[in-house]
Order: sequence, then C-alpha cells, then structure tokens
Amino acid sequence: MSAEGLSFLDEEKPRIVMFCGKGGVGKTTSASATALHFARGGLRTLLISSDPTPSLSDILEVDVRGEITPIEAAPGLDAVELDFDTVVEMWKEKFGKEVYEVISSFLPVDEEIIEYVANAPGIDQEFALSYIYDLYAGGGYDVIVWDTAPAGGTLSLINLQDKFYRHLGDAARLYVRVRNALEALTRGRAKRDPLQIIAEWEKLSKSVLEMLKDKGTKAFLVTIPEALGVNQTQRVARELARYGINVSGVIVNYVLTPEAAASEFNRSRREMQSKYIAALERQYGDEMHVVQMSLLPFEVKGIEALDAVEKLLFPNRSSD
Ligand SMILES: Nc1ncnc2c1ncn2[C@@H]1O[C@H](COP(=O)(O)OP(=O)(O)OP(=O)(O)O)[C@@H](O)[C@H]1O
Ligand SMILES: [Mg+2]
Repeated sequence: MSAEGLSFLDEEKPRIVMFCGKGGVGKTTSASATALHFARGGLRTLLISSDPTPSLSDILEVDVRGEITPIEAAPGLDAVELDFDTVVEMWKEKFGKEVYEVISSFLPVDEEIIEYVANAPGIDQEFALSYIYDLYAGGGYDVIVWDTAPAGGTLSLINLQDKFYRHLGDAARLYVRVRNALEALTRGRAKRDPLQIIAEWEKLSKSVLEMLKDKGTKAFLVTIPEALGVNQTQRVARELARYGINVSGVIVNYVLTPEAAASEFNRSRREMQSKYIAALERQYGDEMHVVQMSLLPFEVKGIEALDAVEKLLFPNRSSD
C-alpha cells in the first residue's frame, strides 16, 4: 500500500477528480473528504454529485440540492447535487431554441418539439455532462471533485456522449444530402443555417469528451476488498480506459486495521480482505496508486467526521 494515500494529488494539481464505483463503496465519502482537503489547501473547490439519489447534503449536513452552495464550515468549498429537472430546464433555455430551429427547418413542427427532445430517456444525464463542462470551462473553480453515479450510470453517460458526438456527424452528412430538397419545402423558414448549429453542438460534445480525456482529469475507482469489488473494478477500469479516461488509482475501502482485527471474527475478515488487497496490488500497483481506507468506528457524517477521512486519505497533509 502507498503510505502516501492521495497526497500525490497535491503535486499533480488536477482540474477534475472523479470517484467511480458500485453502490455503497464510499464514493461520496472519498469525494467529500478529497474536496475538503483541496479547499483547505486554498483551492477554489466544487464538489458535485451527478448521482440521481445523491447524499452530499446528508454527509455535509447542508442542503446543496439543485444549487451551488458555499459550505460555511469549509471556506473555499462549494457543493451541489445536480437536480435533473433544473438541468433539463437550463438545457431548454440554452439549446431549446436551436433544436427547434434545426428541426423546424426541415419538418413541419411547432415548439413542442423542444419538450419532446428534452424528455427523451437518458437526456437529463446527458445534459449533466454539459453542465459540468460549463463549470469546468468557466474557470470559476481550480478543481472540481465529481461524485459520480454508481458504476453503470456514469459509464452509460459517457457512452451516450460518445454516441451523441458520432451521431451529430451523421446528422450533418444526412442534412447535406437532403438539403436541396428540404430547402424547396421550407423556403425561408430557417433563421440560421442548421449545419452551423449542428457544428456547434458537435464542437461542444467534442469538448466534453476532451475534458474527460484530459490529463488534468483523474478518475479513482472506489472498491471493497472482496471478490465482488475486485471483479467490478476490472470491468469499470477497462471501460474508463476505453474512453481514454486516466485512472489514477484504486481506493480500497472498509479495510480492517490490525488493531480492529483483535477478535476472531474480525481477524478472519481481515484475512479474507488481505487476499483481495494483494490481488488489487498485483493487478494495479505498477500502473496506478492503490490506496487503502480503513473502516472507521463511526458513521461519516458532518465536517468533523470528514476530517477523519481526510486524514486517512491524505496522511501527510500540511495542516497538521
Ligand atoms: N471507511 C469508512 N468507515 C466507516 N464508514 C464508512 C467508510 N466509508 C464509508 N462509510 C459509510 O458507508 C456508507 C456508504 O458510503 P458512501 O455514501 O460514501 O458510499 P457511495 O459509494 O457514495 O454510495 P452510493 O452508491 O449509495 O452513493 C455511508 O453511510 C458512509 O458513512
Ligand atoms: Mg454516494
């Protein structure tokens, strides 16, 4: 195990740190403690959750639903749980008119088409990525810590973005092919060249994917020291790599310390865990950080509890 924990992040100065993994492994706990650490180091930090059933408000003990909220107990830290209804509303405001312009340039539709597109399945998650991109590109934060939705959700989100990007290319080609016929049908209806709008969407979509692939974006796989966790980690690591996302480390959570393993029950659990920690070390130790996070004797809730987690993850933090 690296005795350094996540301290190497202080040197690397990432722009986005994302925590991925299956349900209940400690993503929100790790993300919150990491964000707290960055804010204490003087970075303008945003902690953001794209989990449809988020728990940032619970762990921070501040209501951060839907709106970016400063966390008083941690100066420099803002947090938000994405509210997907709000995200869809923002999207409609930003892109709704353009969608209408493009589609109405070749089909006899009215503005209801905006609702229709905005309500398509998965589209809220899709907009969440462009929301994060705006915050990233806006430059208001030094670092964004992203508490992602449990494994499958986040991957399908990235997959969707990838597909969307490809489809936009197809849409533009198709449009060019049928353009003349359409122009005859819809003479004078389009205010702007739809091709130009499609090209702008394509650019945005590409930027979102580039943000995810950027060297400044670091993903962590949070897992548990059990067979289930090890297998899941392999799958998620492969998928993230497929999209070109840098996986910086694996956080193995709920590890029983030798002290905790005094009873026969815990001793035998620790033995079981050791086998899987060793397996994760073997598999990932050469190419990335494998960081252990001990099981704490209390629930992680409130800034004080997060402080203890920060200590675990950043053992050589300067504030001590
Ligand atoms: N090292 C730890 N020691 C003790 N309790 C922990 C530890 N890590 C996490 N917990 C507790 O485990 C529970 C799950 O953690 P957390 O909410 O961070 O997981 P998650 O991966 O975000 O879950 P979800 O997928 O549901 O969002 C929480 O109640 C948290 O307080
Ligand atoms: Mg969570």
